Amino acid sequence: MIGMKVFSSELLKDMVAIVTGGGTGLGKKMAQELGQAGASVMLVGRREDPLRATQQELTEMDIACGYVVANIRNPEDVQRTVSETIRVFGLVNILINNAGGQFVQPAEDFSVKGWKAVIDTNLNGTFYMTQAVGRQMIKQREGGVVLNILVNFLHRGASGIAHSVAARNGVYGLTKTLAVEWAKYQIRVNAVGPGLFITEGMMEEMASAGGPSFVETVRQGTPLKRTGRPEELAWLATFLCSPAASYITGEYIRIDGGNSLGGGIQLLPECD
Ligand code: ADE
Repeated sequence: MIGMKVFSSELLKDMVAIVTGGGTGLGKKMAQELGQAGASVMLVGRREDPLRATQQELTEMDIACGYVVANIRNPEDVQRTVSETIRVFGLVNILINNAGGQFVQPAEDFSVKGWKAVIDTNLNGTFYMTQAVGRQMIKQREGGVVLNILVNFLHRGASGIAHSVAARNGVYGLTKTLAVEWAKYQIRVNAVGPGLFITEGMMEEMASAGGPSFVETVRQGTPLKRTGRPEELAWLATFLCSPAASYITGEYIRIDGGNSLGGGIQLLPECD
């Protein structure tokens, strides 16, 4: 299944996508899948080395790809990201808000600085990107798509990352509200909630913060009994960003092997 071609290379023809956190991990995988479906891709991140390496990799796959070194917490960086995308590709049709980050700590020990840092990246940065790209999409009068990458545990919480869960619930509210507010511009706004996907990026850090036992516990608590494959998230993201999802807006779709269901109520014995 890995490397399977799911979408036509015509699906996103002539479309331009910005992917934040696109240099590594799940962001990189989504950028690659959008590119293979025909989109031009602008990668955004704070560190130039992974951005440059990913740009090179995607270019070798015949994907039109650029990058901008930018911190989404900084509105000037965000504006420069949009200007650079327009300068290089002429327009923007898709925004994937994938950049985010957090650290694990009991909420009672959070410093004001730590709390603000997580809110600033995950909520404020996502809003700055969405507003700047949304303004450009409104100006273009061709509609557009915003996809927010959240988490699968929005509604049940996760101990140790209260700041991140709070920020992501803010983005959930933003998703619903902008879906209504921007429908008149034909801009669709959706969110996805991935479960545990092991990549070299953020989720791996989170997994290792909890140790191998954390990953094993998640596996056991997931009806499909495994972690996600990055391409599985990339397929969902590509579908939601494509005209195939033209009647879907304001949705939050979990992709977690059923993990949010827990074990359900088991009247039959489980067997492997
Ligand atoms: N990836 C993680 N945090 C980020 C930030 N603040 N800006 C851009 N990319 C990021």
